Amino acid sequence: MNKSEKYTTSLTEIKALLSGETDMIAKMANTAALLHKEFDFWWTGFYRVVDNELILGPFQGPLACMHIAKGMGVCGTAWERKETIVAPNVHLFAGHIACSSESNSEIVVPILRGGEVVGVLDIDSREFNTFDDIDKYYLQQIVELL
Ligand code: SME
Repeated sequence: MNKSEKYTTSLTEIKALLSGETDMIAKMANTAALLHKEFDFWWTGFYRVVDNELILGPFQGPLACMHIAKGMGVCGTAWERKETIVAPNVHLFAGHIACSSESNSEIVVPILRGGEVVGVLDIDSREFNTFDDIDKYYLQQIVELL
């Protein structure tokens, strides 16, 4: 299966899995687990906006930093800009927060509700250049399901 096919399958599975569920944390937890296993990412998880900062939410992978301020790192920048950010080489991203020294590329997709960011989906890879417009296209649809 190529990447688009894997995402298409995952999208269908996540839709079924989340259907009827209303609790955001439960939905984030299973979405992170499903994506992490399917794609063998290094770190797959969520941060939620709580009291005007990003707080670590459900994730799979190594330990991560728990608080991120608006505008800081890839996550805080995606929040501030309200747009998906792809970092092909995190070491070249000004202000990147290195939770794991093994992470080399990253994508952060904001979760928008009524025009406001309520959280972000953050995925890290140990390879460089892992993420592109295909990941962006499908992950943006996936966060719509939360
Ligand atoms: N690298 C992120 C921080 C979160 S960890 O990757 C899990 C950033 O720069 O915002």
